Amino acid sequence: DAAAVYPAAGRRRWHVLLFPLPYQGHINPMFRLAGVLHGRGFAITVFHTDFNAPDPARHPDYRFVPVPVPDGMSGPAPVAIEDVVAHIDAMGRACEAAFRDRLAAVLEEYSRDAVACLVADTHLLPVFEVATRLALPTLALRTGSAASYACFAAYPMLCEKGYLPVQVQDLQLDMPVNELPPFRVRDLIHIGKDSHDLMCEMAARLVTAVTKLSSGLILNTFDALERRELEGVRRDLAVPVFDIGPLHKFSPVGGSSLLCQDRSRLEWLDAWAPESVLYVSFGSLASMSARDLVETAWGIAGSGVPFLWVVRPGLVHGCASEGSHQQQLPEGFEAATRERGRVVAWAPQEEVLRHRAVGGFWTHSGWNSTTESICEGVPMLCRPYFGDQTGNTRYVEHVWRVGFEVGGDLERGSVEAAIRRLMTDKDGAEMRARAGELKKAAAVCTSGKGGSSCMAIDKLVTHIMSL
Ligand code: UDX
Repeated sequence: DAAAVYPAAGRRRWHVLLFPLPYQGHINPMFRLAGVLHGRGFAITVFHTDFNAPDPARHPDYRFVPVPVPDGMSGPAPVAIEDVVAHIDAMGRACEAAFRDRLAAVLEEYSRDAVACLVADTHLLPVFEVATRLALPTLALRTGSAASYACFAAYPMLCEKGYLPVQVQDLQLDMPVNELPPFRVRDLIHIGKDSHDLMCEMAARLVTAVTKLSSGLILNTFDALERRELEGVRRDLAVPVFDIGPLHKFSPVGGSSLLCQDRSRLEWLDAWAPESVLYVSFGSLASMSARDLVETAWGIAGSGVPFLWVVRPGLVHGCASEGSHQQQLPEGFEAATRERGRVVAWAPQEEVLRHRAVGGFWTHSGWNSTTESICEGVPMLCRPYFGDQTGNTRYVEHVWRVGFEVGGDLERGSVEAAIRRLMTDKDGAEMRARAGELKKAAAVCTSGKGGSSCMAIDKLVTHIMSL
C-alpha cells in the first residue's frame, strides 16, 4: 500500500503528482516546485520517462514512478531545435498509454480522495488528456516567462498577420510586433520556415493544455519582473495564474541536475576580487559550430578578464556527445589562460552566480539562467540560440537594461570588446547597478508574508486544497 512505498503517506493526506518535461531547463523548476509543495505538507509523486530520468536517491522524500517509452526514444538528447520540438511531441504521445496505466494504479493505491491534483509541464498535452479522462484535476507549469507564454498564445494571430513564419532574409526582422511589445519579429519564439508547422502545433498544444484542460497556470516568474505581462496573461485566461517565481529562491537545493556539477572551482573563485570574474555557460541544449567555439575561446582569452567557462559535453556540433572540454577547446587555449581562467564540464550555476567574485554572465538567455542571474544582481552578455531565448534577450537588453546581446557572427575581436564593455566599462557598471536593484526587487517578492510570490504560493496551496 501507499504507506509501504511512501513512508510519509500515512501522515500526509494530500498527494500532489508531478510530471516534468524531461529536459534540464524544465526539470529544474518542476523539482523546485516540488520542494515548495513538499514544504507545505504535500506528499510528492514524480512521474518520469527513462529519457533524462531523475535520480530517486537524491530525493528520498519523494516517490518516483517510471513511465516507459518505446525503445529508441530514450537515447541521447536531440541537438537541432527542430528535432527537439519533434522529440517533445513524440515523447508526450509515446508515454500516453503507459502513463494512463501508471496513473490509474497510483490513484487506486493512494485512494482517489487523497490525491489533490497533477501538475504537468505545459508541453505535455497527452498527460493532461489522460488525467482529465481519469477525472483528476490538473495544473499547468510553464517554466518560461509570462511574455513567452503570451507569445505562444498569440501564435495564430502572429501567423494571420504575417509576422510568422519569419523569413531568414526578411528585411522585417527588426519590425516591432505592435500587438506584443516590446518584441520585434526577430524576438518571437520561432523556428526555420520549413518547420514552422511544427512550432504552430507545439504552440496550439501548449495553449490547449492551459486553457482547456488545466485548473490554473503556474509561472516561474514574479511581479517585479513582469507585472504588465502577468496582467495580460490574466486578462486572457479564465483560470487563475500563480506567479510564484523565482522558484530557485524558495527551493534552493533542487538536486535535479542531470550532469554532475563540478564544485572544485568554487574555491578558485575565492581568490578573485569582487565582481571581476566572467561566468560563461550556454545551458543544457544550445550548441555552437567549431568555428564559433574557437572565436569565443580566443575572444575570452584576448579580453584579459578572469573567467569560469562551462564547456559541456556536446556543446560543439559534431563533437561526440561525450567529448570532454579538452577535446572541444582550441589547442593552446588552456595553456594561454591558465593564470586567470578555468573550464568545467558542468557547474553548480546558482552558487557560481552567487559568488561575490562573479561580475558578469555570458549566457544563452534560457529562462532559468536569466532569473538566476537577475536574482544575484549579475549583468549579462546574451547570445540567444532558439525558442524563448531571443525574447528573454530582448527583455534583458531593452526592458530591464541589465545586459546586451552579442549578435551577428562571432569574431574574437567583437567578443573581446563585448566582454570588456560588460566587465570593465562604465556602461557595464550601470547595468550591474540596475541588476542590483532588480535583485533587491526580487528579494522583496520572495521574502516575508507580504511578498507577491509568497502570497501567490499561499493562493496556490489554497487552490490545490480546493480542487
Ligand atoms: C531550455 C531552454 O533552452 C530555455 O530557453 C528554456 O527557458 C528552458 O528550457 P536550457 O537551455 O537548459 O533550458 O537553459 P536554462 O533555462 O537556463 O536552464 C539551465 C539550467 O541548468 C539552469 O537551472 C542552470 O542553473 C543549470 N545549469 C546550467 C547548471 O546547473 N550547471 C551548468 O553548468 C549550467
